[in-house]
Amino acid sequence: MRRTPSALALAALTLAATTASMLTTSIANAADPIVIKFSHVVAENTPKGLMANKFKALIAERMGDKVLVEVYPNSQLFGDDNVLEAMQLGDVQLAAPALSKFSRYTDLIALYDLPFLFEDLDAVDRFQQSEQGQAMLDAMKKKGLIGLGYLHNGMKQLSSSQPLRVPEDARGLKFRIMASPVLEAQFKALDAAPLKKPFSEVFTLLQTRAIDGQENTWSNIYSKKFHEVQPYITETNHGLLDYMVVSSNEFWNGLPDDVRADVKAALDESLAYGNQIARDKADEDRQAIIDSKRSEVIELTPEQRAQWVQIMKPVWKQFEKEIGAELIEAAYATNQQ
Ligand code: SIN
Repeated sequence: MRRTPSALALAALTLAATTASMLTTSIANAADPIVIKFSHVVAENTPKGLMANKFKALIAERMGDKVLVEVYPNSQLFGDDNVLEAMQLGDVQLAAPALSKFSRYTDLIALYDLPFLFEDLDAVDRFQQSEQGQAMLDAMKKKGLIGLGYLHNGMKQLSSSQPLRVPEDARGLKFRIMASPVLEAQFKALDAAPLKKPFSEVFTLLQTRAIDGQENTWSNIYSKKFHEVQPYITETNHGLLDYMVVSSNEFWNGLPDDVRADVKAALDESLAYGNQIARDKADEDRQAIIDSKRSEVIELTPEQRAQWVQIMKPVWKQFEKEIGAELIEAAYATNQQ
């Protein structure tokens, strides 16, 4: 006689099957590597692009079975306008936006946009490594973002459809800027028209003459071929374009301690590598632009440069309250150390 299983036995079988399937799933998940998507907007042959690829290579070499880094350059995954929101939603785990692009999250980081604040990258390094500079990495914690380190690109130059030698030459011209109130004020001080646009649109805006100019570093100008559609670049070194590598609190603090420590070590090493590249590339790409003969590089006389300083520096006062006079002073003082 065939026996029918009792309800109790059936329930026991179902429970055993479910437990076995749950166990299989969790074992499969434990074996899956942790995926870190690193999204950025620049070309691969730039300080940030090379740093991101170095990070990916170091992680593959050291933690290949545990962690997988996927790098998405050239705004392929997210652009300037949405990467931080995507990070808060868990759709991307690492990004390194230009410091100018954090203005929606903190007033403090606007410090780095003040024109003529830092004389060179050595001064920037001294400030970023100081207690105050390091504390700024935590400025967005309440917004769910954690700063993991700084990366240089370099000093910005002004490119334009017409030669810019003195501030009056910029009057009435349209310049693309990153989304920063300080940069907006800087161009308003010149009586120019600033337009906030994502990096991915700049080439076309310049090519179609929808805008007259933009400010950027030698490596961004060269790698994105802005010099091919801008006949003049004035070597102003008037501002800084650096980055903060950020992650979400949730992702970063959710990593197992040993994994987080190893990922951070690889990141620090990649940042040191990227920072060295930034210095070398600025010179190389400046020279490559000159050699291309597509754009004339205008060097300012000390008197001309003094005029740009005089007209732009009052912007500091406009932002003193948000940023803090003490912080501005501390950053400026690093030029003399
Ligand atoms: C970047 O270097 O990440 C982009 C800079 C810009 O938007 O001009």
